[in-house]
Amino acid sequence: MSQATNQSWGGRFSEPTDAFVARFTASVNFDQRLAPQDIQGSIAHATMLARVGVLTDDERDAIINGLNEIQGEIERGEFNWSVPLEDVHMNIEARLTEKIGITGKKLHTGRSRNDQVATDIRLFMRDEIDVIEVELKRLREGMIELADREAETIMPGFTHLQTAQPVTFGHHILAWQEMLARDHERLLDCRKRVNVMPLGAAALAGTTYPIDRHVTAELLGFDRPTENSLDAVSDRDFAIEFTSFASILLMHLSRMSEELVLWTSAQFNFIDLPDRFCTGSSIMPQKKNPDVPELVRGKTGRVYGHLMSLLTLMKSQPLAYNKDNQEDKEPLFDAVDTVRDCLKAFADMVPAIEPKKASMYEAARRGFSTATDLADYLVRKGVAFRDAHEIVGQSVAYGLKSEKDLSEMSLDELKQFSDTIEQDVFEVLTLEGSVAARNHIGGTAPNQVRAAAQRAREALSALKAGA
Ligand code: ARG
Repeated sequence: MSQATNQSWGGRFSEPTDAFVARFTASVNFDQRLAPQDIQGSIAHATMLARVGVLTDDERDAIINGLNEIQGEIERGEFNWSVPLEDVHMNIEARLTEKIGITGKKLHTGRSRNDQVATDIRLFMRDEIDVIEVELKRLREGMIELADREAETIMPGFTHLQTAQPVTFGHHILAWQEMLARDHERLLDCRKRVNVMPLGAAALAGTTYPIDRHVTAELLGFDRPTENSLDAVSDRDFAIEFTSFASILLMHLSRMSEELVLWTSAQFNFIDLPDRFCTGSSIMPQKKNPDVPELVRGKTGRVYGHLMSLLTLMKSQPLAYNKDNQEDKEPLFDAVDTVRDCLKAFADMVPAIEPKKASMYEAARRGFSTATDLADYLVRKGVAFRDAHEIVGQSVAYGLKSEKDLSEMSLDELKQFSDTIEQDVFEVLTLEGSVAARNHIGGTAPNQVRAAAQRAREALSALKAGA
């Protein structure tokens, strides 16, 4: 056999692989990232094979010791990755055989790279989901505490990016937190379908050896073995689910980023972000740019792209395994890395947001944000809502002309538009009165925001208790 022919399958080949084809079909440059999971899976597989009598205990021990040594070589950067050996699986197996001789060649009994790679990716995804979940919790906690601290801070709420009604800053931050709570549920739901074991499906049809898949599943911490060998080696819907979760999460983070970018601008001037989250300009000395939120907003695009890649990768694939599936890894790895980085950036940054309370308050006061409160006041005094709307509309038009907010007009000025208006109108025209009046579950009143923060805290720690 020529040296350039892969030792793992070279038996039926009469000429070596074309050098370009070897490079084109190899995945080792990126799938070496799966080495820890590949070794973990192989150790469990060898343990199971010994338990059912396919390997002797001595063979099992030699394999496990060899694999542990290889793990050390990889961690120390001493492992010599070979492109002709194609992928992480064959690199590790070849090194094992180099180290322990013929017993190394027995490891692949009763399995195939098809069920092996599907298992490795699922183990990898499970590990990464758990790390991502820690960051997501940290971010949610930071938001809940910020919201609680700022339960009374008043800002303008917007629709169409036009000042609409006053809200509390804490209420706004809790809106972000709600988005993340749903993302968190999606992540945990995805984990359930990730944590199922393909090993034992072998190439596609299962294996003739007396394997015990429940043993391997338990050793690897999987909830159960997959039900169908054809499906087990071929589907990557769990990866699509993860990138769907990631896309929705990044969509949410991009919306928050956009608001942070707007709020730090001189035109809004609602918040300050500490210097450590910003960068300067090489030409304009006065600049402090919100690069971190801008970059999170920008990274949303690549994650959407990975979702599209994976959906398109799977589209129309006949059963069972096809080499197409080798293309699942790079989008998945990049989606994982991007989500981790963006969550870390946000979890570090959110607790450090400094609201500029006076400036937010002033902005809420300027935009006739209590106009709806005046209409509701008139309705309470017996005016029909449509008429009240018209009366308030005229008051706002007058305010625009005279450059006065509603609360700055005298009683006589207001009375031009309706006789029903009395001295008590000024209680509802204040921003504090306006937010305090929205006093129901889900409303913006400060006491409701504090109660909502408390419920969010409890929901989050109930999750932590292991749901
Ligand atoms: N490197 C391959 C992948 O990532 C491993 C499985 C290859 N199986 C095969 N029959 N060629 O999908």
